[in-house]
Amino acid sequence: MKSATNSHTADLTVVGDVHRWWRAADSVFLERRPPDLTLFVGDLGDEDVEMVRRVAALAVPKVVLLGNHDAWQSFGRKVCTENLRESLHLLGDDHLAYSVREVPAAGVSVIGARPFSWGGQSLRSPELYDEIYGIRTMRQSAAAIVDAARHAHHRDLVILAHNGPLGLGEATDDIFGKDFGKPGGDWGDRDLALAIQRIEGMGLRVQAVIAGHMHHSLLHPRGGVRRRFVRRGGTLFLNAAYVPRVRQATNGDELSYFLRTRWSTGQCRAIEEVWVDVHGDEREAVAPTVVELDGVAPVVDETQE
Ligand SMILES: [Fe+2]
Ligand SMILES: [Fe+2]
Repeated sequence: MKSATNSHTADLTVVGDVHRWWRAADSVFLERRPPDLTLFVGDLGDEDVEMVRRVAALAVPKVVLLGNHDAWQSFGRKVCTENLRESLHLLGDDHLAYSVREVPAAGVSVIGARPFSWGGQSLRSPELYDEIYGIRTMRQSAAAIVDAARHAHHRDLVILAHNGPLGLGEATDDIFGKDFGKPGGDWGDRDLALAIQRIEGMGLRVQAVIAGHMHHSLLHPRGGVRRRFVRRGGTLFLNAAYVPRVRQATNGDELSYFLRTRWSTGQCRAIEEVWVDVHGDEREAVAPTVVELDGVAPVVDETQE
C-alpha cells in the first residue's frame, strides 16, 4: 500500500496496548497536529488511574476501549473497584464500549465492542459485566454491539475492540491466535464475530476491525512474530499491539509506535506504522504488508449463549 499524505484523507491514528509506555513526546505528537480521531485499544496499565488520567487529558478527539489489564483487580474480585469506576468516570463518553462515534471527515462511524476482553470463550466475570453494562452472556454482548451499530449514521463502519473476533485462524502466529499456556487455538472473541455477522446481515459494511491484546512478539514459538494485518473479503483486521510500544533504534534513538490509517468516503486508503522520537517528531512511516485471507468468515452459532 502506497504512503498517502493527501489532505483529502482523514487520519485515524491507533495507539496499541500502552502498558504504561507513554511519553510526554507521545502527547506532543498527537496534540501538535491532532488526527481526526485517535483510537486507543486499551491495556493502558493495570487499573492505573494516573495513566488513564493522562490519556483522558489529551487535547485531541479520541476514543478508548479499555482492556483486561485496565480491569485487572476488578476481575479478581468480580466487582467494579474504585479504580475502575474512576477510570470510567475520567474517560466519560470517550470510553466507546457499546456505543458509537461519528467521523464525518472519514465517512465512517466507529463502533465500540466489549471492553476488558481477555479473549477466549469466557467472559471471565459475568458479574462485572452485569454490574457495569447489564450483560451476562456473549450473546447479550453481541446484541449490545449490534445495537450500537444500529445508531450509526454511516453505512461504513470501523469497529474498535480490545481483542479481535473469532474466526481468523488457530495458529500461534495468526492475528488473534493463542500463543501462551497450551499454545494454539483461536483466541478471538465470539461476541464480536457474532456481532459482525449480524451487522453485515443488516446491510452495513464493516470496513475495519481495530484491536490489540494479542501482543506482536510470541511466547510460542519463542521469538516468533505475529501476523497483525489481514484482510478477508471487504474487511481489514488490524492488531496494533506492538508491546512494549517504545523501542531503542540502532542509533540509540528512543522511538514509540503508532498505527496511522487514512480514510476517505468510508474506505481505508492507506495504513502506516509510524515511529515517533523523544521530541514528538515522526521519524519513520512504513506501510505494512496486509495478508489476504482466503474464503469467507466461518458462520457463528447464533444459539450458543
Ligand atoms: Fe496487552
Ligand atoms: Fe489485553
